[in-house]
Amino acid sequence: MNSSTMYVCICRGITAKQIKQEALNGCTSVRSLCKQLGVAQQCGKCATLAKEIIISTTNELNSTSTTQI
Ligand code: FES
Repeated sequence: MNSSTMYVCICRGITAKQIKQEALNGCTSVRSLCKQLGVAQQCGKCATLAKEIIISTTNELNSTSTTQI
């Protein structure tokens, strides 16, 4: 299974791909992800992984923009 299609939030049925897309659109916190997608609104067990995805996507963006300059 592709890791981007992996479910991060089982309660809401939200995949890593959806979270990554939100991060690419400028989402920088679990709180704003919660507002956009509903992540971590129920049991909250997905919050840590969601945060890791946001951080890694942001790091990818930063390293990409640095190499393009
Ligand atoms: S797994 Fe995301 S709120 Fe429960």
